[in-house]
Amino acid sequence: KMEKTLAMIKPDGLRGNYTERIKGAIVESGFRILEERIVELDEDRASRFYAEHSSRSFFPNLVKYMTSGPVCIMVLEKQNAIADWRALIGPTDSVKAKATHPNSIRAMCGLDSEKNCVHGSDSLLSAQREISFFFEEETGNIYSLSI
Ligand code: CMP
Repeated sequence: KMEKTLAMIKPDGLRGNYTERIKGAIVESGFRILEERIVELDEDRASRFYAEHSSRSFFPNLVKYMTSGPVCIMVLEKQNAIADWRALIGPTDSVKAKATHPNSIRAMCGLDSEKNCVHGSDSLLSAQREISFFFEEETGNIYSLSI
């Protein structure tokens, strides 16, 4: 079914100049980029975005990392966009991605479990929450997730 998902190029991805290669992979894989914006997260916004991980030991470092530079956020649309974008980015651990998913985006530009270059919503509910987190609150555009 037609879906929208939130994709993000994290600070290491922007710093490493991977944006054009990542967008190339996105378009080649049949996604439409409906929205795209560069934002800088402050500590409060990064903490709220990753609230579900707030009790994890890596959380403080994750917030530091995500506030270390600008990120690029995109709304992607295609059939089965949520699962397909997760498949295209590969496993969370970029070292594992290089070993088992050599064609994935994290194999191309990720470093480890934390600095993994890109983000993708992991479910329909997350996609809905994450898209409105970045877009609907500010633009007022409504991204209906079911067609
Ligand atoms: P993401 O898929 O965006 O969602 C949660 C993020 O937390 C993840 O990517 C990584 O950046 C980070 N993360 C997840 N697991 C670990 C870990 N074991 N160590 C450090 N960072 C992690």
